[in-house]
Amino acid sequence: MRFSFVTLFEGLISSYFEDSILKRALQNNLLSISFYNPRDFTTNKHGKVDDYQAGGGAGLLLFPQPLFDVLDTIKKEHPNAYIIFPTPAGKPFAQIDAKRLALKEHLVFVCGRYEGIDERVIETYADEVFSIGDYVLTGGELASLVMSDAISRNIVGVLGNEDSLSMESFESELLEAPSFSKPPIYANKSVPSEFLKGNHAKITSLKNKMSEFKTKYFRPDLFSRFSVRH
Ligand code: ADE
Repeated sequence: MRFSFVTLFEGLISSYFEDSILKRALQNNLLSISFYNPRDFTTNKHGKVDDYQAGGGAGLLLFPQPLFDVLDTIKKEHPNAYIIFPTPAGKPFAQIDAKRLALKEHLVFVCGRYEGIDERVIETYADEVFSIGDYVLTGGELASLVMSDAISRNIVGVLGNEDSLSMESFESELLEAPSFSKPPIYANKSVPSEFLKGNHAKITSLKNKMSEFKTKYFRPDLFSRFSVRH
């Protein structure tokens, strides 16, 4: 998988790939990353990338020219590039999207700043437009990182142990059951006794029940979808 980030602030993103699982995935050539700065594609003297909104409105927008030029360049160099725009006005990004996008060859994230991006850029180039939640961030960098992280861990080989994917939250439309490690009693709190007895069928059944209870309590919206299907 190749990830490209169109951003004015490469450092916000590159540092996340310098540790832990994503660092190892880069070293093992399961991932590669590249950056494009719209400022390098401006045709005006001052390297300006933002301007006032047509019709008024608070704040500045990234105007079309640098983004059209950078995205044309990417598409010419990489005809299979699949272009994603993070914006609070997109459709909600979910685990099912992370799994689906993990099968693409090359994803490009176009990071907005200021009040966003001129809509004509999105209309012209977007393959998909995603929001990572109902709140507004200062730019698209963090949203791009959230999505690229969630996508990366669904690429075969990135996690090392693919079993970690099968029992986690959202895989069965439910939240993951609580997990425990050692010791059996800590701070006066015990691991549920069934977990210590080694009967795996019973443990699985208990975990399934815990998943259902937890989902019903914290995410009634998910639970009602689950109960319709089961
Ligand atoms: N850019 C700013 N806020 C965002 C959000 N919630 N999701 C995706 N991109 C964003």
